Amino acid sequence: MSKVYICDHPLIQHKLTFIRDERTNTKDFRELVDEVATLMAYEITRNIPLEKMEVNTPVGPVQGRVISGRMLGVIPILRAGLGMVDGILKLLPAAKVGHIGLYRDPETLKPVEYYVKLPTDVQERELIVIDPMLATGGSAIAALDLLKRKNCTQIKLMCLIAAPEGIRAVQEAHPDVDIYIAAIDEKLDDHGYIVPGLGDAGDRLFGTK
Ligand code: PRP
Ligand code: URA
Repeated sequence: MSKVYICDHPLIQHKLTFIRDERTNTKDFRELVDEVATLMAYEITRNIPLEKMEVNTPVGPVQGRVISGRMLGVIPILRAGLGMVDGILKLLPAAKVGHIGLYRDPETLKPVEYYVKLPTDVQERELIVIDPMLATGGSAIAALDLLKRKNCTQIKLMCLIAAPEGIRAVQEAHPDVDIYIAAIDEKLDDHGYIVPGLGDAGDRLFGTK
């Protein structure tokens, strides 16, 4: 069974509270999501391997450690996942970015795929799939299914807020994919929205609706 990591660093929780606040305007919402994505990238990379590297300081040689040449990929689920990309790339600038376009049908709540563009060597990369919201889990599962069909094997999922239903669904469908989240909320409402959540992440990020 995959692990669920709650990123409960005080800075993340502080910023998440303002992200949730309905009074937060589009500009501030976007900036806060970007900042939280950077902080979560710090958490998600906590265990990436290092290798030795010797450098000279002005005073003498030192055996340092640097990140070993990992090939990383960041895969936002459109639209709302786009809001987390730049924040992650601030810490992982060499990562390639692949896009998976999915929207949730408002009646069935099932994901509908409309766009996919992935790095050509995606199957060789360690991937972080990003989406602010893990509600029913349908969108995340569809994105993970698609990546597995492309032979991707090393995948993590990073979301801001998850419903318990979504976590269970992803764990059942993809027990090898660890999940990183800033908060687990109470439940889903009748329209598949996370309660209390933050509302519609895509609309709040892009000022639509
Ligand atoms: C939202 C969100 C997730 C999905 C979560 O996207 O960003 O992708 O819903 O719901 P699920 O876990 O039940 O699948 P939405 O479909 O609203 O599209 P958008 O990002 O374009 O607004
Ligand atoms: N998508 C969102 O943007 N918000 C939710 O609460 C659920 C799905």
